[in-house]
Amino acid sequence: MTFINVLGIQHPIIQAPMAGVTTPEFVAASSNAGVLGSIGAGYLSAAATRDFIHEVKKLTDKPFAVNLFVPENAELDQGQLRKAYMALQPVRERLGMPFWKAPLSESDFDKQVDVIIEEGVPICSFTFGIPNQETIQKLKDAGILLIGTATTKEEAIAVEVDGVDAVVAQGSEAGGHRGSFIGEQLVSLGELLPSIVEAINIPVIAAGGIANKEHLDQQLLRGAQAVQIGTALLAAEESGAHPLYKQAVIEAAENSTVLTKVFSGKSARGIRNSFMDMMADAPIAPYPYQNDLTKKIRSEAARLGKPEFMSLWAGESVHETKGGTVKEIIGKFI
Ligand SMILES: Cc1cc2nc3c(=O)[nH]c(=O)nc-3n(C[C@H](O)[C@H](O)[C@H](O)COP(=O)(O)O)c2cc1C
Repeated sequence: MTFINVLGIQHPIIQAPMAGVTTPEFVAASSNAGVLGSIGAGYLSAAATRDFIHEVKKLTDKPFAVNLFVPENAELDQGQLRKAYMALQPVRERLGMPFWKAPLSESDFDKQVDVIIEEGVPICSFTFGIPNQETIQKLKDAGILLIGTATTKEEAIAVEVDGVDAVVAQGSEAGGHRGSFIGEQLVSLGELLPSIVEAINIPVIAAGGIANKEHLDQQLLRGAQAVQIGTALLAAEESGAHPLYKQAVIEAAENSTVLTKVFSGKSARGIRNSFMDMMADAPIAPYPYQNDLTKKIRSEAARLGKPEFMSLWAGESVHETKGGTVKEIIGKFI
């Protein structure tokens, strides 16, 4: 049985889970187009994850995945947190925010896992690490197929050893957060994919900069069983990205993205803007605390229509992104 048969899809394409961007309409449109729709549930509570799953089920009877952020235990250093908070003052002033509260988020990961099992979601993907053995076993006992994320060969081997069923090889070109969990090496997909395909026996999904059918075919020839596509779908009609974010994506020139930690404390690729430049040398808190500190700033920037202070996550191929419906965009890959 081929990998796409195991996933229950028609084409070797996974719509990238994109926390904050995926909507039920976006995920269902992907699944209905014959690819694997994925809910980016990383920032959701367990209750919101369940509601999201219900909405998708109303719109499609095809398989879809739910993607979770494996929680990390970053140490909370109050002094560092305060410095990072103060470093954001100039941005705050530019947005006219007199003061802002930055409540620290708590992960609902374990409860989300229970929701996924209770709702009979067939596929669960992860980024930022590997769940513990108890969680992996629980999901597998429920018959759920598991997909991990690796940015190096070493991480891919760890994913396989821990009993995960497939792995996304995320190249340095990819938009959004890097899934790294062992060190921070930057390896492009061209180098990463063959090294992972050679090192492990589980199916490998190529991700990062895949913007057209030619790119897709190239990854399949290099041994990928499927590809995961994010940036190419960002400006789709069904995408939940802010209209100004979509506009920035559509207007982006070549070489307009950079990797930065200033929004969340974790390395992520996005369109370069004033926030990145202003914060380039500022002290920042580790993930997820920096994300908590900047959350209100980003939402206020979105409310005021100031994309220069929003996180415009996008990959290196963003200059190839166009609008249209999910179905039309996917149609160009098949
Ligand atoms: C806006 C955005 C949000 C993302 N959010 C997630 C996420 O929640 N979970 C995840 O595993 N990957 C996330 N990613 C990474 C994608 O899964 C994938 O690795 C990446 O989009 C592939 O590169 P491309 O953007 O060049 O297609 C995100 C990517 C983008 C662009």
